[in-house]
Amino acid sequence: MTFKEIVESRRSIRKFDTEHVFKHERVTEALRLAILSPNSSNLQTWEFYRVKSADKLKELSEACLNQGAARTASEMVVFVSRQDLWEKRANWNAQQIKNKVGDRQELSKREKRGIHYYETMMKLFYDNSLWPLNSIFRRLVLLWRVLNGKPMMRFTRKQDSKVVSNKSVAIAAQTFMLAMKDQGYDTCPMEGFDSAWVRKALDLPKSADVSIIVACGKGLPEGITNERLRLPYGEVVFEV
Ligand SMILES: Cc1cc2nc3c(=O)[nH]c(=O)nc-3n(C[C@H](O)[C@H](O)[C@H](O)COP(=O)(O)O)c2cc1C
Repeated sequence: MTFKEIVESRRSIRKFDTEHVFKHERVTEALRLAILSPNSSNLQTWEFYRVKSADKLKELSEACLNQGAARTASEMVVFVSRQDLWEKRANWNAQQIKNKVGDRQELSKREKRGIHYYETMMKLFYDNSLWPLNSIFRRLVLLWRVLNGKPMMRFTRKQDSKVVSNKSVAIAAQTFMLAMKDQGYDTCPMEGFDSAWVRKALDLPKSADVSIIVACGKGLPEGITNERLRLPYGEVVFEV
């Protein structure tokens, strides 16, 4: 299929063929591609939990309110946002630059900027360890920028880093679903779940944010339960 055909034929499927012998390795490949998705500052504050065993699928399906897609899925992938891992992932990025530098004494401007970005700048936006002091400091920096007529990311609240991380996770989920379609499989993204139940089923820490759960399988024709309706192009696209 061409990219256009993949996008046009992907639908959210609510009933999968439970008799189908599912090729789990296709999920492996789709996740490999999902990991290549764009993500904020390359922090990769995401985790992907694959649920394949019959008992775990049943447990997760209950957490997903026993929706049709969850009940009949051959595999489910839980897309988790780990904004709490920002520092670990920032250090990992800084380390990648340092590994490239090795024993070389002179660092290029780009390398210096990269290390400064991950080791210092990240803290300004993500560090909430001295709450509410972090927020007060950010607001003061913002005020100073505003008074000087300069733009700045309005990233002052705790939930801002959560939103940023979830944006990256959602993009990865879309790459995953398109990659599954490309390999002959169907999906259904779900936010209809009890996050506390999902966290318990997967033994996730409280700081992990369950973003989206994607049910996967071989779609049945009756799995398409609604017409594909979209607002007209002109109502949602603006040229400015
Ligand atoms: C964030 C998000 C959450 C969704 N949650 C559910 C859900 O819990 N259950 C479900 O059956 N479909 C869910 N969907 C699927 C949407 O209902 C579906 O994408 C929409 O109706 C458009 O249909 P299409 O995907 O077939 O084009 C969700 C989709 C998104 C993007």
